[in-house]
Amino acid sequence: MKKIWLAGIAVLAMGAATAAWAQGEVISARRAGLKRMGEHMTAMKAVADARGAGTQFNATIEEMINFYQGLPARFPVGSGTGDTKALPTIWSDSVGFSGASADTVAKLQALRTAAVGGDGAAFQAAWQAVGPTCGACHRTYRAR
Ligand code: HEC
Repeated sequence: MKKIWLAGIAVLAMGAATAAWAQGEVISARRAGLKRMGEHMTAMKAVADARGAGTQFNATIEEMINFYQGLPARFPVGSGTGDTKALPTIWSDSVGFSGASADTVAKLQALRTAAVGGDGAAFQAAWQAVGPTCGACHRTYRAR
């Protein structure tokens, strides 16, 4: 009986360790993705500042749209502890969090339209409209 009980404890402990490991993977994957998004924004800034057409960023913008459409799913319940700056507000106000992500998607869709259009001034204006949506989410849902 004691053996069975101990085996049960061992299985539970393994389950907890596996869950912690899985959350660690989720956190590092979403952080790497967000870092990449930041790099994309920086790469586009040089062209936006110079009022370039931005056409070469079509694939980049498409990737960003896909990423932000899937962003809320990268924050499963339980992934708020560990090596992360995610704030508990993400889960207490999940509707607001999803809305903040949707705002970024909307501005990226406008950026895609501008990039396809090939007008430098339009690309610059559309690029400048994306950043504030990043900041808006960070202010409420990300620790400093
Ligand atoms: C819906 C909310 C939300 C939006 C929109 C958002 N972010 Fe974030 N961002 C976060 C959260 C939350 C974190 C912290 C993630 C963590 O530490 O687990 C973060 C972290 C980051 C990081 C740090 C990644 C690292 O190295 O740990 C960068 C860079 C970043 N975001 C860039 C951006 C850019 C650029 C945009 C806009 C194009 C953007 N974010 C839009 C919520 C958001």
